[in-house]
Amino acid sequence: MQITIRKLTAGDVETLIEIARDSWKWTYGEIYSEEYIDQWIREKYSKEKLLNEVNRSQSNLDIILLGSFNESGMTGFIELKINEGNAELLRLYLKPIYTRYGMGESLLLEAEKMLRERHIVECSLFVHQRNVIAISFYKKNGFEVAEINEEDIIMKKMYE
Ligand SMILES: CC(C)(COP(=O)(O)OP(=O)(O)OC[C@H]1O[C@@H](n2cnc3c(N)ncnc32)[C@H](O)[C@@H]1OP(=O)(O)O)[C@@H](O)C(=O)NCCC(=O)NCCS
Repeated sequence: MQITIRKLTAGDVETLIEIARDSWKWTYGEIYSEEYIDQWIREKYSKEKLLNEVNRSQSNLDIILLGSFNESGMTGFIELKINEGNAELLRLYLKPIYTRYGMGESLLLEAEKMLRERHIVECSLFVHQRNVIAISFYKKNGFEVAEINEEDIIMKKMYE
């Protein structure tokens, strides 16, 4: 499948929210109730917050926010927060129908290219212990388990 990856713009925000909602239900449907997920998306993925993050990413500030696109439109997104010398992978969500085509890896590789350009040496992330697909994905892409924090696993990857 042919995909392109680019920084997200304000016009992509509504689609990002839809993808996040679908992906959350697909991923966490057996862990959290539908009401909990809807509430989470309303709070954490508010249009206002996302527009601010799009702006910070477009201005090369502390956020990297990229989307993957095919001929039908946006298929997924990745978001990272840059701190001094290190980064945190905050979000990586695909439309469920587009999983397992290598898009997650493409999004991660593009984000990592940007991390290297910015001389970031370490990237960490939190993943729910029961999210076995994501844990497998991150291990395959070079992340290692660093710590267990309640229901989450903290994973890390170092860059030269
Ligand atoms: C995690 C995610 C981004 C991976 O993206 P992807 O494009 O499907 O993954 P890729 O095709 O690049 O990589 C494939 C690898 O991911 C893992 N994987 C992906 N889908 C899987 C599935 N259905 N079952 C088991 N492993 C799976 C495996 O390690 C797989 O390697 P393999 O094919 O050699 O077994 C995607 O599954 C997703 O959006 N999941 C829901 C959201 C999520 O959990 N995000 C992480 C939050 S911390």
